[in-house]
Amino acid sequence: MDKIRLGVIGFGCRSYGMTEIFLGFEDVDVLAVCDKYEDRVQNAINKVIEKKGNTPFGTTNYKEILERDDIDAVFIATDWELHIPIAIDAMNAGKAVAMEVGGAYSLQECYDLVDTWERTRVPFMFLENCCYNKEELLATAIAKKGILGKIVHCSGAYGHDLRNEVVHGKENRHYRLRNYLNRNCENYPTHELGPMAKVLGINRGNRMVSLVSVASKSFGMEQYVIDNKDKVDPDLQGVDFAQGDIVQTIITCENGETMLLTLDTSLPRSYNRAFTVRGTKGMYEQFTNSVFLDGNNEYWTGKEFIDNYLNNADKYNDLLPDCWKNITKEQLDAGHGGMDYIELRDFIDRLKAGIPMALDVYDAAAWMCISCLSEESIKNGGKPVEIPDFTKGEYKNRKDVDIILGYHVE
Ligand SMILES: NC(=O)c1ccc[n+]([C@@H]2O[C@H](COP(=O)([O-])OP(=O)(O)OC[C@H]3O[C@@H](n4cnc5c(N)ncnc54)[C@H](O)[C@@H]3O)[C@@H](O)[C@H]2O)c1
Repeated sequence: MDKIRLGVIGFGCRSYGMTEIFLGFEDVDVLAVCDKYEDRVQNAINKVIEKKGNTPFGTTNYKEILERDDIDAVFIATDWELHIPIAIDAMNAGKAVAMEVGGAYSLQECYDLVDTWERTRVPFMFLENCCYNKEELLATAIAKKGILGKIVHCSGAYGHDLRNEVVHGKENRHYRLRNYLNRNCENYPTHELGPMAKVLGINRGNRMVSLVSVASKSFGMEQYVIDNKDKVDPDLQGVDFAQGDIVQTIITCENGETMLLTLDTSLPRSYNRAFTVRGTKGMYEQFTNSVFLDGNNEYWTGKEFIDNYLNNADKYNDLLPDCWKNITKEQLDAGHGGMDYIELRDFIDRLKAGIPMALDVYDAAAWMCISCLSEESIKNGGKPVEIPDFTKGEYKNRKDVDIILGYHVE
């Protein structure tokens, strides 16, 4: 395949930026666009015309894109609830899928996703962009090299103040509002879980066996509504939000490691994914951008270590893939500090080469199911809940895969 003919399904905030990256690729043509709202379909058409010159087919019914012969692949960036149903329809129609992240609403939809891929074998990639980010890739490489010894525990967070986005959900026609009103769970697990799963070889020699999840009370959103009553939809005054402000989930893995995930999106805070890897010989910490090795004990607090990775850049930078070593300003500016560009390039490269995706349907199912399982655990006072093995035992034989094509860390 010389060129990938792409359809875009869902044209909200995320899609705007990601479509721009696709449109910048010489080997991608965006030939069809879809949103459930006419105005957004028109925005998408305008974007394609402006960037590439062609007028794409536009529709409010994604099935019309799936019926077209001139489409090879679809990018799905709709509301969370529709990712899996649309991905299933796309695979059934023979269209390769690049699916945005979110959490699942039931185990059944995760099984359906896996079953559809196993039956159709249509390429499917789960777009967990943090797995492509520089720090997470570096930490994974350092861990795989054995520099941190035996890995025992990983932690991370989705620490992102989303109060403004959530309360303006009605005006912005955004899905998070209804989710925060009606659900209490780890609703967005994959930004931290994806990179941890890569460090620990989940679905590739290891697997997640169970979780416990607890949620704090919910008051951040209610307080925000009170404090911003002049700007916020009056219907939200006095309304109870179901989503706890801080949700913590501990996952236990078959090989004995634990992972701690924190969802922290409805209280005032700065952005932080807090990705941390702990081993018998050292620790990687994203927040201080540091590698702490056994024997560095003359330092007492983490402060001395801030940016110590940067001071030792020669030592570690060789472990990064070439695409990060040679990244251009344009690529860095394309979205989320470069990781979105690198991720989409990897999707297109693998699709053209007919090579399996690095983040596949088993990763999507295992990582997304944490949302509905955490909901069950929280409902039952933090009760342990089993995590299914979507690979049906194959995780024991599945080999580690290079996250970026041609990038090996031995
Ligand atoms: N990986 C990342 O860093 C990242 C960042 C932001 C968002 N996301 C993900 O991207 C997705 C979209 O998020 P967003 O913030 O752009 O939301 P958004 O609400 O701005 O966009 C979603 C779009 O999907 C459209 N849509 C809904 N149902 C549809 C249907 N049946 N057919 C066609 N279009 C439909 C909506 O009208 C909307 O325009 C979410 O799943 C989110 O988790 C990922």
